[in-house]
Amino acid sequence: MRDVDGAVANHDGNREVPLGRRQAVGRLGGLAVVAALGCHGVRRVDLPADDASAAPPPAPDASIRRVLGYAALASSAHNSQPWRVRRESADRLVLLRDVMRRLPAVDPADRELMLSLGAFLENLAQAGAALGLPCDIVPVEGETDEVATIHLGAAAPGPTARRTLDAISRRRILRSGYRDEAIAPDHVAAMLASAGEARFYARGSREWSLLRDGTIAANRLQAARDDAQRELASWIRWRDDEVRTKRDGLTPESLEIGGVAGWWVRRRYTSASVMSPAFRKRGVETAERQASAGGGWLVLTGSGSTRASLLDAGRRYERLLLSLRGLGIAAHPMTQILEEAETRRGLEASLGVSETIQFLLRVGYVERYPEPVSVRRPIDWFLV
Ligand SMILES: Cc1cc2nc3c(=O)[nH]c(=O)nc-3n(C[C@H](O)[C@H](O)[C@H](O)COP(=O)(O)O)c2cc1C
Repeated sequence: MRDVDGAVANHDGNREVPLGRRQAVGRLGGLAVVAALGCHGVRRVDLPADDASAAPPPAPDASIRRVLGYAALASSAHNSQPWRVRRESADRLVLLRDVMRRLPAVDPADRELMLSLGAFLENLAQAGAALGLPCDIVPVEGETDEVATIHLGAAAPGPTARRTLDAISRRRILRSGYRDEAIAPDHVAAMLASAGEARFYARGSREWSLLRDGTIAANRLQAARDDAQRELASWIRWRDDEVRTKRDGLTPESLEIGGVAGWWVRRRYTSASVMSPAFRKRGVETAERQASAGGGWLVLTGSGSTRASLLDAGRRYERLLLSLRGLGIAAHPMTQILEEAETRRGLEASLGVSETIQFLLRVGYVERYPEPVSVRRPIDWFLV
């Protein structure tokens, strides 16, 4: 059982669940009762990987489906999974943005949506190469819903296929359990190599403090915004049946609310809980703790805000994430500093960076590296 000290939740938007362990245990009459009732909710492993019950024509062949299944395991903001895929022919796919999955309150310009689609494309490319379907990806600029065209080639499966697919399947974001330990220089070099254009700011440096303080300030600002809080509430799936039917968003499991606290929130929490002052306050406190933990911050840079640049940053972000488990390092994007105008302004100048900052995440060695639990929609739900 994890996070049994109650009040544990930490997640996108970094709101924390205002629930004390003693309070919950008292009400339940002890852990034995909880064990009897089941300590955890719905995890990825509890769901069928590919629900083929409603396959629309033309049904892609099995290998394209496999590649799409891996692509969909990508990281996305609030686990919104803002992708749709149109299959135009046997060797041509089009990636579309799903405008119903936008986050207008925290991401009005679809910046993070594009980063999420970039992450999807990286998984697609890596899984495609591993499974003998190399992908030639071309971004589409403009205001169209079409975001990239994908030409599928044919080749022998990559020599490291098993390792690649394993890395994609086991990748996850972790938000708690970071050690305040310096990251070894060879690990820093490996992370920077995966992330491409990027900077690493070690714990204790001036820039590290600046990002920590800016993140905390941004979380305070965002917690006070009803629109951002409402949007967050709309992406949290407190109930198990909602997790099963929607298969997206943030769940108690992915928010790392385990044990008694998890049992409690799955039964009692609603969107209204997320709007309460207590929930917002605890969220800021969690963000303070999180932003102060770990070995450093990684900042991914790029050139401006074209789709190509954002998709590229999203791809590098996912590539970085895929490389981390092997190093024993976990990553936690904390993007509020880029979402709030007041903390966003002048960030490059304060860090002495001449390029555009596209993404930032804290990284660190962790005590435990659990398997992924976030859920995904089946392929047929995003294939049009
Ligand atoms: C553009 C983008 C922004 C994100 N911002 C945050 C964030 O601010 N806080 C956070 O805890 N996670 C953030 N995430 C991580 C997602 O919440 C996470 O990928 C999603 O819930 C799925 O979980 P998984 O990556 O473990 O599969 C972000 C991810 C992306 C792609």
